[in-house]
Amino acid sequence: MQILVTGAAGFIGSHFALRHSQNHPDDSITVLDKLTYAADKSFLDPIADKIKFVEGDIADQELVKGIIEDNKINTIVNFAAETHVDNSIKEAAPFLQTNIIGTQNLVEVVKEHPEVLLLHISTDEVYGGLEDSDPSCTPKSALNPCNPYAASKAAGDFFVLAAVHTHGIRARITRCTNNFGPHQADEKFLPTIIRNALADKSIPVYGEGKQKRDWLYVTDHTDAVEKVLSDGKDGEIYLISADSERENIETAKVVLDKLGKSHDLIEFVEDRPGHDWRYALDSSNTKELGWSPQVSFEEGIERTVEWYRYK
Ligand SMILES: NC(=O)c1ccc[n+]([C@@H]2O[C@H](COP(=O)([O-])OP(=O)(O)OC[C@H]3O[C@@H](n4cnc5c(N)ncnc54)[C@H](O)[C@@H]3O)[C@@H](O)[C@H]2O)c1
Repeated sequence: MQILVTGAAGFIGSHFALRHSQNHPDDSITVLDKLTYAADKSFLDPIADKIKFVEGDIADQELVKGIIEDNKINTIVNFAAETHVDNSIKEAAPFLQTNIIGTQNLVEVVKEHPEVLLLHISTDEVYGGLEDSDPSCTPKSALNPCNPYAASKAAGDFFVLAAVHTHGIRARITRCTNNFGPHQADEKFLPTIIRNALADKSIPVYGEGKQKRDWLYVTDHTDAVEKVLSDGKDGEIYLISADSERENIETAKVVLDKLGKSHDLIEFVEDRPGHDWRYALDSSNTKELGWSPQVSFEEGIERTVEWYRYK
């Protein structure tokens, strides 16, 4: 495989690139990353001599076209995105630019290279918030994005699916639940809890902390993406979840317990506007490919806490 991994200096993409390089040493890997605030190129240091790294934007059509042609790329895995919901509430424009225009740009290049498979990484947030009694979402559930980040991801998904239908491009989409593990940008929920707890600072938890998130260890996610790449079908949407739903307050307490810190550090702060209550995915179609999560929530938290402790 000659694979282009976009956004591989970020959280999930870096794990994907590291594992892919280890498990498929004969593949050539090219990375395209704009190196935003969320990136850390040093995550790729262990494979620096095995990959080609290009600093640039997925929305730059000439650049992407050149990479595809020069490296005879036959597979693109698109992790590149603006990903922080709070940032999207403050300013949506960068989300439209990368998550919609950037994604459509990859589609445009793939239209000219019909041999290339585009695997587009998406999120459970496109379905919007669920009530406790709602069933898990399936690939056919209606999209109902409720914040600018989710709306931009939903739009990106629609552009990919529209090109499958209209132009017959080869594409697959994965949508997954909340990832956790090493390499996540400091501002996200778990890194914030760990960093503040280590410094004995208060831990901000939105509202009363009752919102539920379904946690997926990052390498379980990247293993699922590999399964979809090797055994999935073009035009399909695959859902990835470890069925590990927890209230945010419970997650905060688990981390504090691991670090031997008091629950008194938790400070409830004004809720995020339009905060989705709960997400849940039915991952049967990815499990049917032979994937299953391997890392329990407790083990994953242990690994994550240890990584941030020595970061
Ligand atoms: N983190 C999660 O819990 C989660 C859950 C579900 C889905 N996802 C999806 O997984 C993907 C990766 O998420 P993440 O958490 O690793 O994100 P991240 O924010 O940690 O990393 C994103 C990476 O993309 C790069 N990037 C941003 N804009 C770019 C552009 N225009 N061109 C090239 N590179 C660009 C950044 O520099 C960064 O390295 C995203 O599509 C996200 O929507 C993430």
